[in-house]
Amino acid sequence: MTYGQDPLKKAFVKSYGCQMNAYDAGRMADLLAAEGYAATDAVEEADVVVLNTCHIREKAADKVFSEVGRLRVLKAERAERGQDTRIVVAGCVAQAEGREILARTPAVDVVVGPQSYHRLPELLAESHRRRVVDTEFPIEDKFSRLPARRTRGVTGFLTIQEGCDKFCAFCVVPYTRGAEVSRSVAAIRSEAEALVAGGVREITLIGQNVNAYHGEGTNGATATLAELMRALTDLPGLLRLRYMTSHPNDMGGDLIAAHGDNPLVMPYLHLPVQSGSTRVLQAMNRKHTADDYRRIIARVRDVRPDIALSSDFIVGFPGETDAEFEETMRLVSDLTFASAFSFKYSPRPGTPAAERTDAVPESVMSERLSRLQTLLDAQRHAFNAATVGSIVEVLVEKAGRHPGQVAGKTPHLLMVQFEAPVSTIGTLQRVRIVRCGSNSLFGALETDAAAAA
Ligand code: SAH
Ligand code: SF4
Ligand code: F3S
Repeated sequence: MTYGQDPLKKAFVKSYGCQMNAYDAGRMADLLAAEGYAATDAVEEADVVVLNTCHIREKAADKVFSEVGRLRVLKAERAERGQDTRIVVAGCVAQAEGREILARTPAVDVVVGPQSYHRLPELLAESHRRRVVDTEFPIEDKFSRLPARRTRGVTGFLTIQEGCDKFCAFCVVPYTRGAEVSRSVAAIRSEAEALVAGGVREITLIGQNVNAYHGEGTNGATATLAELMRALTDLPGLLRLRYMTSHPNDMGGDLIAAHGDNPLVMPYLHLPVQSGSTRVLQAMNRKHTADDYRRIIARVRDVRPDIALSSDFIVGFPGETDAEFEETMRLVSDLTFASAFSFKYSPRPGTPAAERTDAVPESVMSERLSRLQTLLDAQRHAFNAATVGSIVEVLVEKAGRHPGQVAGKTPHLLMVQFEAPVSTIGTLQRVRIVRCGSNSLFGALETDAAAAA
């Protein structure tokens, strides 16, 4: 078979960051699909390569430059065969270091920030004349300029709020994503409808500060996150709602109550605390104390005693003493987390904390991180092990590891493998948990016969 002059163009889009970064990568893939680019997982056959980068810690940001180094070779090889390759650096590194990227990496054709990626097709066209950088925060709403969502799978992310006004002393997000902006309830509802029509049964509402959501409601008044979730519960076919990432200072009473009175809201809360020391929290500009956090968790557990709690921690913030780190260990022991992310502090250019001269030595940070992670791992394992013997509702997402098996998640976001036909994908099934592995649970379908026996 021979191809014509213009064989199918292909695009490779890769996400390096948070859920929102993954969501944006998906929307860029949709945008390129609308321009005639088929998605590919094989970077060597791509005519357009998009790296959606993350700037949150130094390691994340450094990945871009090593990746572009590899792509430069690939681009040269393709050029020898007469094939053009456009290399696009998008995301938060693009926003933070736009011009520097062009100067340091000649192979890059387009640099585009998180608020202007709806312009990708124009920027690609322009890149044939000159290399382009677009890191504007345009006034127009990028969401209204993007093509309709294409869905893949049973679960989906939906951005409802973007940006951050909180300026924690260590964090680049307020600079890379800009000020807090919420989408309207109507816009979110229509994207949710498209997702559900495409087979999505569980939607995770995402935002850098998702619970600071304050979008325009259908009645013209401002809606809270709890009100938005209420407005989504009657979507036919939608089975579950989740949200992340929340900030302790925006944990409103109606959001806590939603964990008890909105049946679609899952018993899972990711609520970053960063440190268990009030002195360190103040230095971080978090604007809450360790006791504030404990009180919020107590209120949530009053409403939903079985809630799975998750958090983020930073060890070795400048000036953190041994005693202050022990306060973090104590908070973790007292509250018990089902899962968590923990990081060594990484100084980020442009943030206030990066100016500090009282850095914690690397060896001390490593030791603290390893102690914290040992404790968090033990808690996670205990949480998983405690499910053995219980019957849980699993939303089946995909075929399992072995033939005849399917896999899906519990309300607590734990992955379960069990035997059932693939026709169960997209449905809720009652499953008895029989065994707990290191990353998955193993279960057995509860049939009516088994339940009666
Ligand atoms: N908006 C969310 C999460 C932001 S980034 C929130 O406010 O919690 C995700 C996590 O990365 C943060 O919760 C924090 O734990 C970590 N993080 C952010 N900046 C960091 C830095 N400079 N060094 C180490 N970890 C960092
Ligand atoms: Fe960063 Fe703090 Fe904003 Fe979270 S709340 S995105 S940690 S500045
Ligand atoms: Fe990274 Fe930007 Fe997300 S810095 S964590 S990709 S908001």
